[in-house]
Amino acid sequence: MVEQLPNVPRSEQLVCQLPWFIRRRLGLLSRYKIPYDQTVRMRLGESTFMLADPADIHDVLVTRARNFVKTPNLVSEQGRKRAGRGLLTSTGDRHQQLRRGLQPLFVNSAALPFAAAIQSHTEKRVSSWRDQQPIDISREMTRLGLEILIRMVFGGEADQLDPNFAEAITERRRYNEYVIFGKLPFRTHLPTPTVRKYRRAIKIIDKEIYRGIRERRRSSSEHGTAHHFLSLLSNVQRPDGTQLSDEQVRDEVLTLTTAGYETVADGLSWTLYLLAKNPDIQEMLRDEIAAAQNIPDLNTKCLKALPMNYAAVQESWRIYPPTWIYVRTPLKDETLPSGIKIPASSRLYLCPFIMHRYPAVFPKPEKFDPNRFAPSAKPPPRSIYFPFGDGPHLCIGAPLARLESVIILSTILARFRIHDDPNHCVKPFAGVTLRPANGVKVHLESL
Ligand code: HEM
Repeated sequence: MVEQLPNVPRSEQLVCQLPWFIRRRLGLLSRYKIPYDQTVRMRLGESTFMLADPADIHDVLVTRARNFVKTPNLVSEQGRKRAGRGLLTSTGDRHQQLRRGLQPLFVNSAALPFAAAIQSHTEKRVSSWRDQQPIDISREMTRLGLEILIRMVFGGEADQLDPNFAEAITERRRYNEYVIFGKLPFRTHLPTPTVRKYRRAIKIIDKEIYRGIRERRRSSSEHGTAHHFLSLLSNVQRPDGTQLSDEQVRDEVLTLTTAGYETVADGLSWTLYLLAKNPDIQEMLRDEIAAAQNIPDLNTKCLKALPMNYAAVQESWRIYPPTWIYVRTPLKDETLPSGIKIPASSRLYLCPFIMHRYPAVFPKPEKFDPNRFAPSAKPPPRSIYFPFGDGPHLCIGAPLARLESVIILSTILARFRIHDDPNHCVKPFAGVTLRPANGVKVHLESL
C-alpha cells in the first residue's frame, strides 16, 4: 500500500514501476499530469520519492547532506569498480578529504589556462565545416568535448596516445549505460559485445593513463608542473601532506572522463538546438560577440564580456539540464522540512528537469528565454535552479563547464549561422545524461 503523504492528495501520488520510469522517464511527467511543484511518492517496491519542495531539496543537498548518501548506483562497490574510487564515487570523510585536495585544481583561476586549448580545438573543428552543409551538431559537440577533455588531461602528449583512446572512452560510456539501464540479468558477466568492447577499452584507457602518470612524475621533477590534469593531479597535496598514489590519479582521470565531457557536449547540443529554433536570439548573441571582439583576452573574460551568450547557455541548462536527475538515500528515518517522513534506505529523486519548470519562478517554462538569466534579472533560488547540484557534492567542474560552453558557443556563432532542419524531429533521451535521442540536424550558413 502506498501511504498518503501529508501534503499530497492521493490522486496526485504516482504509482508506477521503476524500470518503466527509468525507460520512459520524461514522458511520465505529462502522462500522469504530475504538478511540477508537488512531491510525489512512487510505489516501486521500495520507498521512492520525487522531491519537489525547495526547502526539502536544500535540506537534503546542503543543510543535512551528511545524513543522505549520494547516488547508490555510483557509490556501490559495482559503481566504484566501474567509475574508479575517485571524487565522484566517494562519500563522507573520504569524500571531504579528497574534495579539499582537488578543489584548487577546479577554481575559476585554474580553469582559465585551459581557455586557449578550448578555443583552438573548437576553431579546428569548425574549420572543417562547410557553408550549407547539413550536420549533426550534437555528434560534433560530443567529439569536440572529448577532444578537449583529452587535451586537458594529457596536454601536448594527447597527440601520442593510442589512436583508439577516444573510442575507448566512448565504449566505456556505452557500457555504463548498459549496466545502469540494461535489462539482461547478470549482464556484466555475460560476454555480450558491449562487455567485450568495454574490457578491451578499459585496458587501453589504463595503459595510456598509467603511461602518462609515469611520464609526468619523471618530467615534472625535471621541468616543474605543466597545466594539464595528469600533471596537476600528480602534484596534489592531501591535507596530511602526502601525494595521490598512481592508482588514485588514475581514478580521478577516470572521474574526469565520466563527468567532464558528455555533460558539456549535451548542454551545448541543446543550446545550439534552441538557438536554431530561435534565430532572433541567435542574432542578438552574435551582435554581442561582435561588440566584444576588441576586448583584450576575450576568452578569459568571456562570462563577463558575453553575458547574454552565457545567459543562453544557462537557459538551455534550465530546459534541458544535462544531469537531469540524481539520487540520495537517508541513513536513518528522517522528517523533511515539509513534514514528509522518509524511511531509512528509501530513494529520494532530485530532478532538475522538474524543478527547472517550477511555475512560480519560471512562467511559461517551455519557452526559451535567455533574459531570465540576464545580468539585470533576479537569480533564481538555488533549490529551484541547480544544474550543478548543491552542497558538498556541488559539481567541482562547474567553472570549467561554464568557461568551455561560452568559448565554444561564441566561436561557433562568430563563424556560422545555425539553421533548424524542419524535417528532423529532436527528442530528448534521458540516459545518464539528458541528450538528443537522434542527434540535432542543422544547416550551416557560413558568415
Ligand atoms: C554542463 C556541464 C556539467 C553539468 C550539468 C554537471 C552536473 C553535475 C551535478 C548535478 C553534479 C552533482 C551530482 C550529485 O550531487 O549527485 C556534478 C558533480 C560532479 N561533476 Fe559535474 N557537471 C558538468 C560538468 C563537469 C565537468 C566539466 C567536470 C570535470 C571537469 C565535472 C566533474 C564533476 C565531479 C568530479 C562531480 C562530483 C563532485 C563531488 O561529489 O564532490 N562536471 N556535476
